[in-house]
Amino acid sequence: MKAHHMFEPARSPRQNTCEETRQRILMCAPDDFDVRYVINPWMEHQIGRTAPSLAREQWRNLCAIVSQSAKVELVTPAAGLPDMVFTANAGFVLGNIAVVSRFRAEERRPEEPLFRAFFEARGFHVASWPQDLPFEGAGDALIDRGADIVWCGYGMRSAESAPAALEQIVSRRVIGLRLVDPRFYHLDTCFCPLAGGYLLYYPPAFDAASREAIETITPPEKRIAIDEADAMRFSCNAVGLDGSLAMNDASPQLQKRLRAAGFAPVIAPLSEFMKAGGAAKCLTLKLVER
Ligand code: ARG
Repeated sequence: MKAHHMFEPARSPRQNTCEETRQRILMCAPDDFDVRYVINPWMEHQIGRTAPSLAREQWRNLCAIVSQSAKVELVTPAAGLPDMVFTANAGFVLGNIAVVSRFRAEERRPEEPLFRAFFEARGFHVASWPQDLPFEGAGDALIDRGADIVWCGYGMRSAESAPAALEQIVSRRVIGLRLVDPRFYHLDTCFCPLAGGYLLYYPPAFDAASREAIETITPPEKRIAIDEADAMRFSCNAVGLDGSLAMNDASPQLQKRLRAAGFAPVIAPLSEFMKAGGAAKCLTLKLVER
């Protein structure tokens, strides 16, 4: 049995139509994708070194995988914004509310009005957010799939007070997690809540208090802690799709552990996007979150 069937929460009959429950996932074609500046350690020494045709092929492959379980929505890529492909950073979505990212890096700030326009055009209520408070959307804010909480990474991109500001907006408990390893600068690079309350994560990316918070909330049998080698393959940067889990790569051992927990890993190589510090999850944003 697939994990999502086991733990699917009861839905009211009104919600139970295909139209309303089918996942929609935002992606952005890599028309102008490249590494043109360095804002995370993965980008060092990679300026101008991505292969556009390979990037396109890898992105199309991921898009095809995602399309099997969700409707892919596209936002038009803008010239001069090479990181716009990473739609996880468009914003944070919960129900009808969208919180548009406020990027820490100057280079990505011009993406904000474009993503805002997308959310508004799709009928989301765009929440207001403090002008000077960095917050990088679903790169750092992740909805738990078991408990009624949102996890929010801070300390690298999103500001320390971002979790509290987010809690004011979404009226759900938001737990801040301090990121301490610059290689894992967004929460979604080292932490992935899975269906049924499972959690795939890389413990050394967090400070001691945050690890304790994770361990208090997520029971041991639900925690899938990974080693550094898998973390460096961005195994945590995974997209959960109807029981399967799309990711750049994972060791055979990790794939086995995931299958044992009810998740089928689907490997979608994303080497070109790794050069910019992103992989499967970063290239997607779930638009249906309840
Ligand atoms: N080069 C991009 C940046 O540093 C990569 C973003 C990856 N996105 C993510 N959700 N982890 O901003």
